[in-house]
Amino acid sequence: MAIARARYYDPLVNDPQQPAVLFVCLGNICRSPLAQAAFEHAAEKARFPAFADSAGTGDWHIGCPPDLRAQAVARRHGIDIAGYRARQIEAADYYRFSHIFPLDHANLKDILERMPADGTARVRLLLDMVDGRAGQPVADPYFGEEAGFDITWRDVTDAAQALIRQLARREDGAGK
Ligand code: 4NP
Repeated sequence: MAIARARYYDPLVNDPQQPAVLFVCLGNICRSPLAQAAFEHAAEKARFPAFADSAGTGDWHIGCPPDLRAQAVARRHGIDIAGYRARQIEAADYYRFSHIFPLDHANLKDILERMPADGTARVRLLLDMVDGRAGQPVADPYFGEEAGFDITWRDVTDAAQALIRQLARREDGAGK
């Protein structure tokens, strides 16, 4: 499968000491691009060096830009994600990324089922990073009202800020 992302993480090129986090949902057009954007934005604001990317477990939207409703909510928060392109998670991701964060339980199950036995990434549900929200999914807004994307944005923003705090303290505790 071709990689559509220009800023593709390669440990031979990127700094292996920096966290490299991959956010994964079903289609890679709604939740995980927003998680990536929120994380990149929060990391930049905190001057925290890290690499982020996103992917889907499904293959329906490979090469597509984010859903227009996801683009709109990001834009309302000053972030342009129109250039993102969906891709599907692949075996190499389990070695290239230090952390993989599925957005919901179905994503978590799919990711763990496909994980190579010697994969090195730590896999944790994204909202496990947020105090009081462990075990909760980021709800899929795709089939719902546009307002659902505001809830997604709030969830991924909370998670991004908590994740950066934990990565900065090296307390991510994200065991497999
Ligand atoms: P996402 O949302 O997993 O947050 O990107 C979805 C996108 C597409 C579909 C389902 C969920 N779909 O069925 O095509």
